[in-house]
Formats: sequence, structure tokens, C-alpha cells
Amino acid sequence: MDSLLIRGGVPLHGEVTISGAKNAVLPIMAATLLTPEPCVIRRVPELSDVKFMARILTSLGAKVEMEDGTVTVQARKLKPVGNYDLIRKMRGSICILGPLLARQRQAKVSLPGGCVIGTRPIDLHLKGMRDLGAKLTIENGYVHAEAPRLIGADIFLGGRAGPTVLGTANVMMAAVLAEGVTTIESAACEPEVVDLAFFLNKMGARIVGAGGPTITINGVKELHGAKHEVIPDRIEAATFAIAAVVTNGEIQINGARPDHLHAVLDKLREAGVKVERKGLTMTVSRGKQLKPVDITTLPYAGFPTDAQAQMMVLMALTPGLGIITERIFESRFMHVSELARLGADIGIEGPSAIVKGGRKLSGAPVMASDLRASAALVLAGMAAEGKTQVNRIYHLDRGYEKIDDKLRRLGARIERVEEE
Ligand code: EPZ
Repeated sequence: MDSLLIRGGVPLHGEVTISGAKNAVLPIMAATLLTPEPCVIRRVPELSDVKFMARILTSLGAKVEMEDGTVTVQARKLKPVGNYDLIRKMRGSICILGPLLARQRQAKVSLPGGCVIGTRPIDLHLKGMRDLGAKLTIENGYVHAEAPRLIGADIFLGGRAGPTVLGTANVMMAAVLAEGVTTIESAACEPEVVDLAFFLNKMGARIVGAGGPTITINGVKELHGAKHEVIPDRIEAATFAIAAVVTNGEIQINGARPDHLHAVLDKLREAGVKVERKGLTMTVSRGKQLKPVDITTLPYAGFPTDAQAQMMVLMALTPGLGIITERIFESRFMHVSELARLGADIGIEGPSAIVKGGRKLSGAPVMASDLRASAALVLAGMAAEGKTQVNRIYHLDRGYEKIDDKLRRLGARIERVEEE
């Protein structure tokens, strides 16, 4: 198993180009199941989650080709059941449920387990499918779904923590081939949902309102193939912006969508960070003096929970007290104890982390627990004096394309080594 060995204390300088968004490409790959015709998806990042999804589509009978950032999928004929183990292992695969149900009027999908950041139920996904007329049972770890007919309906998808991103995607993909009109209320507004709707409309769907809390879908009889380039990864862009600040360097970030990052850029500016925008290019540096800020993670367009851990590193280095409140996932502070190994002073009070910032960090062996926690440990390792070894970086490879190469090109002293 790989780990990353980092020798910190080097300010990062140079340019980085942002890859395609993991959280857009996974549901878009699932959407290709909605048509027997070929679909071509470009700017697909080389990630283990993407490879997983490709194996899942193949296990369902689709032909999948991946080359140089382009994925071509043709799901001419489909099997009702995909590979249990593959699907169980990757939460994002739950979004094959909607397309399978819409195309085949039946589906058998393994229930995604919880993960370290939370229990992550799928009750809202199932509610949406039931509202469209599907019969659903859960047996032997599978969701069994059947719907001789899917009929458009008014569906409220708001839950304990607000809207659901993949739930909105799943129900949208089931509704595109339903009879009549579906309205999704309290829909997720994330850019990844908008990108999926954009792709589905290219396939011949009739969706309006994506990006807002009310999405209206006029069902159609069938969909055709389409070509699409996925949006850039806003969380990768946020991670590199914070990397510039915590290493006291300056990075020009190319190919991002700054308009998807308002909440992050606003908080960075409030913290005293210098952000210069020219078109789609952003140049980020520490600015004169960092100031502590408070953050509450919220559904889009609020501050993204996927940038919470990275922002905690910046606050740990900033003199003063900052409070981070996690409102989306109930246990997304696994990185706190690992950051403490590097010398950070962070306490947890219920849904909030109290960050007493300004301490110098010093290198140590640390353990990644999930995707964004691992990114935070890499940032902290680059800011710390001495050597840091980040173990279990398979988490990182799930969501960041060649991050150690990209960081090395910016001057980081980072290498991939066998875990001891
Ligand atoms: C997506 O997960 C992203 N994953 C997550 O990114 C991201 O953190 C999350 O949205 C929130 O922005 C992908 O797109 C593959 P949710 P998703 O359903 O859709 C509760 C990363 O690091 N909920 O919007 O699974 C749920 O427990 C990952 O890239 C229900 O209660 O998240 C959570 O508290 C991590 N019932 C909240 O809603 C449901 O049926 C939001 O979850 C569904 C969700």
C-alpha cells in the first residue's frame, strides 16, 4: 500500500491545471445506462473511483473504453444486476439505481454501506423512486426495485441535513423516462447536478431549473447518445488554493470555475488571503496577514463540506481562535486527531471544532481516514517542519488525479513510497 513522504517548509510556486470533477463524472457515467447508444465523456479524471464505476458499468453489460481522459460507454443491452461487491464498495455507485429503473423498469443494487464521515442513509433516494411509482424492498443487502410504469410526480427531497446531491441526481435520472411531469422540490443545487442535467438534456431529456431548489422534468419515451465535457473539480481547485496559503507560496490555478467557488473564495478573502482572478484563472497567495474565521458547512452555494478539512489546516496555522461547524456529515472530524500529531491545537464540541491557531507544525507519521482528510494531511505535511508520512493514501487517489505529481511540479518535496 502506498503512502506519501513529505518534507515540509517549501513555499509552492507555479501553475496547476484543474482536472474534471469526480462528483460530476460519476453520475454522468451512470446516466449513460439510460440509452443503448454510445456516449462520449471528456475531461474524465484518472481516479480509482472512476475506474470502479467503469467496472460496475461493465458488470452490467455496458462496453466501456477509457483513454487519455475520454470515456466512451455503450450500454446496448443491460443485465438487471451488477457486481454486488463492486457496487457495495463505492457509495457513488448508488446512482445507477435511477437509470436502471428508468431503462429496465427493474433494478437490483447493493445497498451502499455507511462510511467514516457518517451513516449516509439513502432513504431520500428510495422515497423519490417510490413517489414515481416504483415498488422497493431491501433484502440480503440489496435494494430490489420494480416499476412496470414510472409516472411523473411532485417529489420533496429535503432531509435532516437539507437536500441530497446524489439523491437529486438519482431521481432526476429515473424521471427523465417517466410518463408526464416530475417536479423535484428542495433539490440539491450543486454544480455537479447542473452538469448532469446538461448532459441528460444533450441526450434528449427535458429538464429545466437545475441549479435551483425546484427542478421540473418532462418525461420522454427514449434518450439517445451524446458527447460531453465534464466541469472542472471545484474541490480540487479549493485544495490547491489552500495549498498556496499554508505553504506561504503563490499558485496560479488554471481551468477552474471560480463561479463555483464563491463561498470558498469569500472565506479565504475574509481570512486575509490574496485571490486575483483573470477570467477562469485565479492566482492565490497568503497576503499580508492571516486572520481567524468561522465556518459552517452548508449545501451549495454555502461553504462545501468537502473543503472543511483543508480549511482546518489553514486555520490551525492562523494565530487566533476559529470555529468550524460541520452541518452536513455527523462524523467528519476524523482528521482532527491526526492534525494534533503534527502539533495542531483543535478541540471538538458537538458539531464544532474549536481551532486555536498559530502553532508551528512539525512532521510525523499520520493516517488518512477518508478522501478529504487525506488531502488535509498532505497540506499540513507541506506546512510542517521536517518529515511527514501520510499512510493509506488510496483514499487520496479516489478523488485527486496525480496530486503528488502536480504538487512536485509546484516545488513540493513529496514522494510516493511503500507503506512501512
Ligand atoms: C455527495 O455525496 C458527494 N459525493 C460528497 O462528496 C459530498 O460531500 C456530498 O454530496 C455533500 O456535498 C458524490 O457526489 C459522489 P448527500 P452524497 O446525499 O450525495 C443525508 C467527496 O469528498 N442524506 O448530499 O452521498 C446524508 O447523510 C464526497 O467527494 C439522508 O439523510 O451526499 C448527509 O448528511 C464525500 N438521506 C446529507 O444528507 C438520503 O437519502 C447530504 O448528503 C441522502 C442523504
